[in-house]
Amino acid sequence: MAAILGIETSCDETAAALVTHDHRVLSSVVESSIDQHRAFGGVVPEVAGRAHLSTLGPVVARALDQAGLDLHEPDVVGVAVTAGPGLVGSLLVGLSAAKAYALAWDKPLVGVNHLEAHLFAPLLEDPDLSWPLLTLLVSGGHSLIVLQRGPGEYDVLGETIDDAAGEAYDKVARWLGLGYPGGPEIDRLAATGHADVLDLPVSMTGGDLDLSFSGLKTAVVRQTTARPDVAVADVAAAFQAAVAEQLLRKMRAALERHDVAGLALAGGVAANSALRAGVVALARENSLAAHLPSGAMCTDNAAMVAAAGLHRLSTSGPSDLGIPARPTWPLEEVA
Ligand code: KG4
Ligand code: ZN
Repeated sequence: MAAILGIETSCDETAAALVTHDHRVLSSVVESSIDQHRAFGGVVPEVAGRAHLSTLGPVVARALDQAGLDLHEPDVVGVAVTAGPGLVGSLLVGLSAAKAYALAWDKPLVGVNHLEAHLFAPLLEDPDLSWPLLTLLVSGGHSLIVLQRGPGEYDVLGETIDDAAGEAYDKVARWLGLGYPGGPEIDRLAATGHADVLDLPVSMTGGDLDLSFSGLKTAVVRQTTARPDVAVADVAAAFQAAVAEQLLRKMRAALERHDVAGLALAGGVAANSALRAGVVALARENSLAAHLPSGAMCTDNAAMVAAAGLHRLSTSGPSDLGIPARPTWPLEEVA
């Protein structure tokens, strides 16, 4: 069956995937340059861009090969590529390559919004999603609560007013002397810590659905400076509990205002154990379905870009070969 090629290069993952119209993932290849960024405590844009340049060609060749397609004349319906938001130098590498493939193969090009792509991830593992869907999209760059009325139909109910959830994890991990990225390490340590050792605030307890994490990060710095004896695992547990509490309170508040059939998680922080357990419990309390993508589908990959590309191709048609990279591209501005 004909598939679309998806390409993702918005941050440090170089990825390519082939996905069919009925959302079967024929192949999904992800290479990360994360090892080159660890020493800097965060992704270095120029290093990421250079890594995409050397890695993308082989990654696309492997994805086509694993799907049984010929690199020179693949049976694809088009080429979908992340056009933003993301690091501009990284986006340009993926976009330029996607334009070249589309031109060489004479296939349509479709530029995809990276946030919309994350929202398609649950659909790839669970084709029977329950609509409308309340989705928490939490990653290193973004944190949003989205009401999805159907595939590609969104209302952004709330978003972070400062740091993204993953960014807060990474900053707190750095403060604690843990490695980068900090989310997985804090999540692991939190399992053995005692959250009640610190008294951290749950931010944004007011009525709206926006999120905030920078005050919590500052509270961690202040309280651990005053009490250097507190074990790192206890700090991790207290921080993780405060993040999950804020996110779950906001989802609960959204459920009071909107009728939905299911809850979903998306983005790198969706791999978080406390958040996953909390969303499963919240779904059960409200007799809703819970759609939690696997770890590989939570983090950046090209299968989700391909799925979003198929949707955009059928609803909005192909993109112009001149489409620019959009380092900033709010979900609200997606057609
Ligand atoms: O979606 P993603 O792969 O890249 C972006 O588009 O940002 O998300 C990466 C982020 C990082 O900040 C990382 O620390 C966080 O997701 N993360 C986690 C966990 N695994 C990854 N945060 C909390 N708990 C985890 N288990
Ligand atoms: Zn992402």
